Amino acid sequence: MEARLIAVVLFVCAVCHFTEAQPTALNTPITRTTCGSSKLCVSTPGNCDPSGNSSCFFSSAQLSNSVLTVEISGSTSGYVALGLTATTSLTQPLNQGDSVVFVCGNNNNSFFFQTATQNGPQLTPVNTISLPITSIQGSVTANQSLIQCTFNISSQFLSTFSQLPFNVTILNGTTNGTALGNATTIFSSGPLDLANPKSNIPVLNITRDGCGSTKLCFPNASGCNPAGNSSCFFSSVQSKSQNFSFELSGTIAGYVALGLMKQNSTVVFICGNDTTGSNFFFQTAIKNGTSLTLTNVTTVYNKQGVVAQNQTLIQCIFNTTTSFNFSTKGDDTKYQVTIMSGTTNGTQLGDPAVLYDSKTAIDLSDPAALNPSSSSNSAVSLCTNVLAVMLSALTLRLL
Ligand SMILES: *[C@@H]1O[C@H](CO)[C@@H](O)[C@H](O)[C@H]1NC(C)=O
Ligand SMILES: *[C@@H]1O[C@H](CO)[C@@H](O)[C@H](O)[C@H]1NC(C)=O
Ligand SMILES: *[C@@H]1O[C@H](CO)[C@@H](O)[C@H](O)[C@H]1NC(C)=O
Ligand SMILES: *[C@@H]1O[C@H](CO)[C@@H](O)[C@H](O)[C@H]1NC(C)=O
Ligand SMILES: *[C@@H]1O[C@H](CO)[C@@H](O)[C@H](O)[C@H]1NC(C)=O
Ligand SMILES: *[C@@H]1O[C@H](CO)[C@@H](O)[C@H](O)[C@H]1NC(C)=O
Ligand SMILES: *[C@@H]1O[C@H](CO)[C@@H](O)[C@H](O)[C@H]1NC(C)=O
Ligand SMILES: *[C@@H]1O[C@H](CO)[C@@H](O)[C@H](O)[C@H]1NC(C)=O
Ligand SMILES: *[C@@H]1O[C@H](CO)[C@@H](O)[C@H](O)[C@H]1NC(C)=O
Ligand SMILES: *[C@@H]1O[C@H](CO)[C@@H](O)[C@H](O)[C@H]1NC(C)=O
Ligand SMILES: *[C@@H]1O[C@H](CO)[C@@H](O)[C@H](O)[C@H]1NC(C)=O
Ligand SMILES: *[C@@H]1O[C@H](CO)[C@@H](O)[C@H](O)[C@H]1NC(C)=O
Repeated sequence: MEARLIAVVLFVCAVCHFTEAQPTALNTPITRTTCGSSKLCVSTPGNCDPSGNSSCFFSSAQLSNSVLTVEISGSTSGYVALGLTATTSLTQPLNQGDSVVFVCGNNNNSFFFQTATQNGPQLTPVNTISLPITSIQGSVTANQSLIQCTFNISSQFLSTFSQLPFNVTILNGTTNGTALGNATTIFSSGPLDLANPKSNIPVLNITRDGCGSTKLCFPNASGCNPAGNSSCFFSSVQSKSQNFSFELSGTIAGYVALGLMKQNSTVVFICGNDTTGSNFFFQTAIKNGTSLTLTNVTTVYNKQGVVAQNQTLIQCIFNTTTSFNFSTKGDDTKYQVTIMSGTTNGTQLGDPAVLYDSKTAIDLSDPAALNPSSSSNSAVSLCTNVLAVMLSALTLRLL
């Protein structure tokens, strides 16, 4: 109880200490550069460009040298705001569930900054908050429909922000002078670690672990490690009770695709970068000559994918039933496997180039189907057969 009282007193004193710095003009426009590498970025639409011409609401956080630098950008003539809600009780001076809102707004064509608390859609300005905010910069530009701002949070409370999860929201609304209209929540996340630039980048964890033992792997080059940094293309399949579980990875800006051919019909699974927003998309097709004809394969489920923000890399995982909904007669699990890639324009696909070709039908249900031992075994058995034929021919001659 006493400790708590002391904490409250300290908190109150902390509140007395900090008043906001006066904003200055924004030095450099806000961009996505270093998103996912040195800063954590959130936006709506996903991956939108705050420096582009289309509507984009964006915020980032970067922890460096004990200073958390926050950026907020929005295509609005009112205000754009970042809301942080503490999700643990360890985030003193914010208790679990407490939130703080940082507002960047347009006051008759000039910039203003405001911290606020939120109650439903209503934002209530607070002029002194427990977080010391410095270096506020902001601008209202482009016919007053783009607001950008950045500021720093520093101090002994910085531990608040390191490695602790906050729910993050982006809010917008109208202004009348510096009065804030009701807020609309246009983006919200579950808990994000503000100190980790990758905390909202889904990681599919595609590795070579289990290749040849629990999963059948198709690397386009012998040293290809999909979890590494080098350029390569990789796919794997695991079969379990009438299901295939696929992984696909490629260092490409357009799309990476897996082709499964049986009886001259190639079903193609495509994981691509929608170039209009650098978003992941999944598509199925059949390969008809050199091009892809989009076709729905209804037996695909549980597809997930990522377009890395920091690297030319597309990865996806998906499951299918072992028989597809068209063209693959017979229910055996042997297919000729290809890995392909191509360009994308939006979600339009350029013609594929083949990067890997198994050349023969491979049993996808056998993780060891391509193991050196099994291929040398078949080579040995082929030699034995040839020898046997030669011997029998010899025998015939001798007779
Ligand atoms: C992301 O980019 C930064 C800077 O360009 C680089 O230092 C970092 O290694 C990259 N991370 C990955 C995973 O490629
Ligand atoms: C808030 O964002 C939404 C979605 O982009 C937009 O439709 C709306 O006009 C914005 N409101 C303001 C006041 O800018
Ligand atoms: C803006 O605020 C002023 C002063 O409070 C008020 O008189 C006016 O009606 C408000 N305008 C709008 C559009 O709400
Ligand atoms: C703002 O939100 C409050 C609470 O939901 C509501 O009572 C009020 O009518 C709203 N104001 C406007 C202008 O929409
Ligand atoms: C944080 O977000 C998650 C997922 O949206 C939600 O379940 C949780 O209640 C939120 N926590 C707080 C403290 O708002
Ligand atoms: C990635 O997968 C491997 C096994 O394939 C596992 O050992 C490892 O713990 C996983 N890593 C993460 C971060 O999930
Ligand atoms: C996809 O397949 C994998 C491996 O068989 C399995 O672990 C996973 O549960 C499957 N996903 C779904 C949604 O069935
Ligand atoms: C996705 O496409 C965009 C637009 O062409 C490009 O800037 C981005 O680098 C691509 N992403 C990857 C992972 O290659
Ligand atoms: C299979 O495809 C090849 C090359 O496209 C073609 O030459 C051949 O006639 C096809 N065979 C059948 C049975 O359709
Ligand atoms: C394949 O392409 C040819 C020529 O472009 C077209 O006539 C044919 O209908 C296509 N087949 C399928 C199954 O789409
Ligand atoms: C695939 O299915 C979706 C949803 O049913 C439909 O909108 C789309 O046109 C279909 N695409 C093709 C190529 O048949
Ligand atoms: C991408 O598609 C758009 C719309 O279909 C087209 O106008 C544009 O020329 C295409 N870009 C390239 C590089 O092919």
